[in-house]
Amino acid sequence: MEPAVDLDSVEELRSIDSSDMLGVLGRFPQQSTEALEIGRTDLNLPSAEGVKEIVILGMGGSGISGDVVSAIAGSEGLSVPVITVKGYYLPPFVGEDSLVFAISYSGNTEETINCYADACSRGARMVAVTSGGEIARKAAGDDVPCFKVPSGFQPRASLGYLFIPILSTLERMGFLNGVVTQIEELNGLLMERSEEYKPEIPLDDNPAKRLAKELVGFLPVVYSSEGIYSVAALRWKAQLNENAKVPAFHNLFPELNHNETVGWEHLQDVCTKTHIVVLREPEEYPRIEKRIKITLDLIENHVGRITHVWARGGTPVERLLDIIYFGDFTSVYLALALGQDPTPVDRISELKQLLASD
Ligand code: PA5
Repeated sequence: MEPAVDLDSVEELRSIDSSDMLGVLGRFPQQSTEALEIGRTDLNLPSAEGVKEIVILGMGGSGISGDVVSAIAGSEGLSVPVITVKGYYLPPFVGEDSLVFAISYSGNTEETINCYADACSRGARMVAVTSGGEIARKAAGDDVPCFKVPSGFQPRASLGYLFIPILSTLERMGFLNGVVTQIEELNGLLMERSEEYKPEIPLDDNPAKRLAKELVGFLPVVYSSEGIYSVAALRWKAQLNENAKVPAFHNLFPELNHNETVGWEHLQDVCTKTHIVVLREPEEYPRIEKRIKITLDLIENHVGRITHVWARGGTPVERLLDIIYFGDFTSVYLALALGQDPTPVDRISELKQLLASD
């Protein structure tokens, strides 16, 4: 199937992308710099003494920031566990020795508000990250330190605003060391990628446009290895859903070898319409590398297409952000290739309205 739109016609792309998701994405390096500044806000942070776990609350486009924090903190050797909570209930162990970050871009997400209130009532040490809404009001009322991020964006387009202040807070509180410098140094790489993927760069030289074109008419299935890259696969899937409005699924090596690998034998008409995107990393654990090769050899005749996407960059943090950024651009170009405005997520808004009307 061919794209409905010429991906090299910048004018056509801009007319579909009426809220300028491409522009917002292109300015991600600037967002990261601003987010580092937001992270330096003079707030009365809770004590780090005796903290047993870090718990990050958030859903969807906000919740993924918690996953990014968890991935980076893990790769940087944070010694306390980081747990992300995406739902209405806190795990029973959350209490006075928990450091809890409540992230909601809008500040009005009911699951996050629920857990925020519960965590406060259990005496947890709270920090909020939001652009406003109920979470901002509650934080002000409860004397909870709150990082205010700019409003007017889609939550998923605010990834930098949401995850960077948390990482820098963890550094300020002594849980991490050197991660802020790594984020600062990341800027050069992000600027290069932003130039490489921008709409003016033609398809032949623009890998994000090329992959988007290859995804037209296929069901994306994103595979990565467990560990730091698992968040990248989830981000790819969610961005394909929300920007391009296509179904998309993800799974992780090695777990998928214990179930999903068997699942490509029936429904051949569906299987041959899938495009498997494998997120790869140059320093892959050798057993994972071997598993990927064997798996793809076993299933290649059953699926439609397979593409390997290699993370680029010198450190795990750089490579993670690199591969996420590439997925973000690919999902937006896929939206545009389908003639779809990437920004609105009407179904999420409608669902929230219906939930509110009882
Ligand atoms: O992308 C979206 O709009 C959603 O995934 C939201 O992020 C999600 O519904 C949670 O809302 P918020 O980020 O405002 O807390």
